[in-house]
Amino acid sequence: MATDSSTLPENTPANDAVPDRMPLLQIQELHTQFETKQGTVRAVDGLSLDLYEGEVLGLVGESGCGKTMTALSVMGLLPGNGRAVAGEISFEGKDLLQCSAEEMQQIRGRKLAMVFQEPMTALTPTMTIGRQISEAIEIHLKLSRQASRERTLDLLAQVGIPSPQSRFDDYIHQFSGGMRQRVMIAIAFSCQPRLLLADEPTTALDVTVQAQILDLIKSLAQEASMTALFITHDMGIVAGSCDRVAVMYAGRLVEEGPVDDVLINPRHPYTQGLLGSVPSLESEPGDRLFSISGLPPDLASLPTGCNFWPRCPLADERCRAEEPVLEQYGESQAACWKAIPLQMA
Ligand SMILES: Nc1ncnc2c1ncn2[C@@H]1O[C@H](COP(=O)(O)OP(=O)(O)OP(=O)(O)O)[C@@H](O)[C@H]1O
Ligand SMILES: [Mg+2]
Repeated sequence: MATDSSTLPENTPANDAVPDRMPLLQIQELHTQFETKQGTVRAVDGLSLDLYEGEVLGLVGESGCGKTMTALSVMGLLPGNGRAVAGEISFEGKDLLQCSAEEMQQIRGRKLAMVFQEPMTALTPTMTIGRQISEAIEIHLKLSRQASRERTLDLLAQVGIPSPQSRFDDYIHQFSGGMRQRVMIAIAFSCQPRLLLADEPTTALDVTVQAQILDLIKSLAQEASMTALFITHDMGIVAGSCDRVAVMYAGRLVEEGPVDDVLINPRHPYTQGLLGSVPSLESEPGDRLFSISGLPPDLASLPTGCNFWPRCPLADERCRAEEPVLEQYGESQAACWKAIPLQMA
């Protein structure tokens, strides 16, 4: 279906929603790897991504494509032997990859926060949740113990935890999965960060609770004029909550752009596949919609050329031999030799 943006010549801004200013966060050519017995696992493989002040960017892609490792690279919290071996992550003009552990700790508390996919790994089981939140507030906002306690109670109420007074002294194991996520959100918001990274909760939460959690983050972020990265599998959440969307496949960015453009005119066959498995009002006879069969590649032995060619119904010789580069399509970008060109009116 043609939209206003698809009728514009290339490189012409289609609307005012995409700001003409420096990104708050700029990831450039990030390579995050794990050394394993099977070889080097390329969890993030040359990813470049910009996040502009005040926007909500959705990061989507199949399980294992590198979404969490991207966010943890930004936070400086990669697990085990994971390392950001190359690239730059510029935040407020500073390269986070060059910061010392102490500097990162300061930035994390005050400017950057993350809602983790697995709350139990990020929370301290031996400390009451009230103290975990209020201690962070005391340290980073330099408030008194009493003022921190009051702010903690307000936050717990704000994230929808009933009877905050009586829950203040509870431990995390006393909370359900959804409530743990809410505690994580309270911690993430406690120091009023400029940038929030929200990783989709996977374990045990049903889709309704997940949607509620992301709605909560979205409304809190809006109130506080926060910039946010939403990691999700759910294109419905992207459509409802995000301004722009970035699609990852096997550690690489394959498509990126305003939600209205990418969801209606996906140019990469992988994005089309992700959307093709969702019934769409926009699909018309002849549209290249399909479900993706097969599995993502082994990140320790990636194919030559495009990472997606083994699963792509459109792949040809060039796709198998040459890695596609990101091309601009109006306000969006896609890395595919077979990308659908802009339709001129
Ligand atoms: N500790 C580790 N050792 C080796 N490889 C790892 C380790 N942790 C992650 N990886 C690799 O990094 C890749 C990216 O993982 P990541 O957690 O970022 O995926 P994801 O996109 O967040 O997936 P999901 O949607 O399931 O959360 C995985 O495919 C995995 O192979
Ligand atoms: Mg993940």
